[in-house]
Amino acid sequence: MSIEQDTDSPLLRLHQNEAPWGPPVAAVNRLKTAMSRTHLYPNRETESANSLVAAYFGVGSSSVVLTTGVDEATDLCLLEFKNLLTVIPGFYGFPDRAKALDTRCDTFVLDGWDGIPHALLAAASPGRLVILASPNNPTGMLFRERDLLALLERGCHVLIDHTYADFAGMSRTMSGSWLDRSDRVLVFRSFSKSFALAGLRVGCLLGSPALIQKLSSRQPFLSVDRLAVEVVSAVIEDDPEFPARLAARIIPLRELLTNMLRESGLFVSVLDSASNFVLAICRQSQDAVLVRDLLLDEARILVGLGDLFGVPEAVRITVTDEVGLARLREGLEVIGTQVRGEVGA
Ligand SMILES: Cc1ncc(COP(=O)(O)O)c(C=O)c1O
Repeated sequence: MSIEQDTDSPLLRLHQNEAPWGPPVAAVNRLKTAMSRTHLYPNRETESANSLVAAYFGVGSSSVVLTTGVDEATDLCLLEFKNLLTVIPGFYGFPDRAKALDTRCDTFVLDGWDGIPHALLAAASPGRLVILASPNNPTGMLFRERDLLALLERGCHVLIDHTYADFAGMSRTMSGSWLDRSDRVLVFRSFSKSFALAGLRVGCLLGSPALIQKLSSRQPFLSVDRLAVEVVSAVIEDDPEFPARLAARIIPLRELLTNMLRESGLFVSVLDSASNFVLAICRQSQDAVLVRDLLLDEARILVGLGDLFGVPEAVRITVTDEVGLARLREGLEVIGTQVRGEVGA
């Protein structure tokens, strides 16, 4: 049976950091009209989306390329640099894409939960590409400015994945940010999380015009489809504050989730997150598997297992709405006795 199959109780999806509420109304409205134009290639719409996205992030249009999510963005960078450095715990998508493209990838264990490892700094020579998500996934933590500066000083290229930036209260405008410091910096922004458009698979890379030109020349013809480019344009035009509003609703719920997990007594620690998910750490990896399995079996709640991200002893739980949190609280209570019994806590 698929875990998505309907039973009496619908599956509560807390495993992929999706928005708990539906997409922006502006997106749904534009989809209806965009559907009637799907017989046409989106040349003009892509150009116009590019300009809107650039203005939204405060850069020139030649500093942006739209991509089919972070995977295409990573692929374009890997094809250009062929030599990746990244961290663990970290987003598995980066090494996965390197593997898929037969590209060298060295991973380095974080210094604590949020420190860039010295060994990575030492290896980050000119010609190499470092990719870091900040906030990082699965820790939810931001990298420190001074650490990122030290990295840049090594002469490497750096791609900072700001997929979760809105949940960390970061400014959406990129002027005066990393991008202005060096033409070796690239930034990825996603429309999946705070724009609540994960199903459309669209994001963008921002960087110097010369670098963006090089990267985009490797893209397939109009790789982002009409529905995605039109919808992103509509949200930016009609409801540009949607992501900030969504983040403002998520942040207090994140505090509730963090406290609930801490009070549950099932975890040895729960990290403070600057994102839309929280990492809860068990004593050992079997305990994390048990929590994940029991929540699914007993409460139809799906949470992420940390093993994909290099923390097998943890579960990663997406921040959800009040109703979802109440259901999770109940689920944690139901499985509590069983978990404590099995792990002897
Ligand atoms: C760090 C990070 N980057 C990117 C993504 C995915 O972005 P997109 O949906 O735009 O491909 C995720 C998804 O979970 C993520 O955790």
